[in-house]
Amino acid sequence: MKLKMMYSFLNSDINIIEKTLEETIQSESILLRQASMHTLQAGGKRIRPVFVLLAGKFGHYNIELMKNVAVALELIHMASLVHDDVIDDADLRRGKPTVKSKWDNKTAMYTGDFVFALALELMTNIKRPLAHKILAETIVEVTIGEIQQIKDKYRYNQNLRDYLRRIKRKTALLIASSCQLGAIAADVEESIHQKLYRFGYYVGMSFQITDDILDFTATEKELGKPAGSDLLQGNITAPALYAMENHKFRREIEKVNEQMTPSDIAPIINLIKQSGAIEKSIALSDQYLDKALAILEELPENKAKKTLRDIAKFIGRRKF
Ligand code: IPE
Ligand code: IPE
Ligand code: MG
Ligand code: MG
Ligand code: MG
Repeated sequence: MKLKMMYSFLNSDINIIEKTLEETIQSESILLRQASMHTLQAGGKRIRPVFVLLAGKFGHYNIELMKNVAVALELIHMASLVHDDVIDDADLRRGKPTVKSKWDNKTAMYTGDFVFALALELMTNIKRPLAHKILAETIVEVTIGEIQQIKDKYRYNQNLRDYLRRIKRKTALLIASSCQLGAIAADVEESIHQKLYRFGYYVGMSFQITDDILDFTATEKELGKPAGSDLLQGNITAPALYAMENHKFRREIEKVNEQMTPSDIAPIINLIKQSGAIEKSIALSDQYLDKALAILEELPENKAKKTLRDIAKFIGRRKF
């Protein structure tokens, strides 16, 4: 089943989200408007707003209020991608040139800031200090995660725990917060919004591990962004870490350095693919997915819960 089919009962609300996204990024600055519109229209799975809306279904769901949180979370995600592509020197995103490549790094920095601030403005419609505290803390963590990743580049004496801490910050916490903030906006009781947070955290971990596996196994066409770029950039992810458990593979992987080209890296990527490391990474992703599904069982039965289950499974085993 396609992702969009899974939440088709939310279609009219998703349309409101899309419309609000477009309205929100209108600006008197043509450049900021064009650069953010470019990223928005390139597509994306919109999973964070979907999590916001589904979590809201556990409480008093009012789309006029919920849309502020859903759009804010997608905008924060989008801003982080525009910045991430500067950090990662990436030219392609969602199958289209990145802002930093179509325009330049400076434009990308300000576009990210612009989109980010618009998200905060929307959030002022939520009159719950807790929501703002959670969001601010999450953004701090995302930033720490991205900086940690820069520090950990080409650092071969890191372990799986370092990796997990990094992806928790750079990816999982934003998905966790999407679930929790959707619930808080709908006045869901604390014990339930905390469970939704933990669900989102586990799904987010599985999601990023899968993203890191796909960087080895998928094609550029499937991903809408270049494959094999993590190792090329010295970003040591789960597959490389598992392969390094074997001394023979470790010696090869440790040769990766900043001067290498994609054709230098290709044989090392193949080595990692043949080492059993992909299978171990899939098992790791599945462990998190199972934890996410177990928490769902503790939540009240409703259509949103069933949909969260379907989406979690899709995300943990996605092919692109
Ligand atoms: C990309 O996120 C960055 C990661 C956290 C892996 P998504 O895969 O959700 O990106 P879009 O929004 O669908 O393009
Ligand atoms: C996710 O990391 C980016 C953020 C959480 C900001 P990646 O660098 O792995 O994302 P992609 O692969 O470029 O989408
Ligand atoms: Mg990155
Ligand atoms: Mg990147
Ligand atoms: Mg990636």
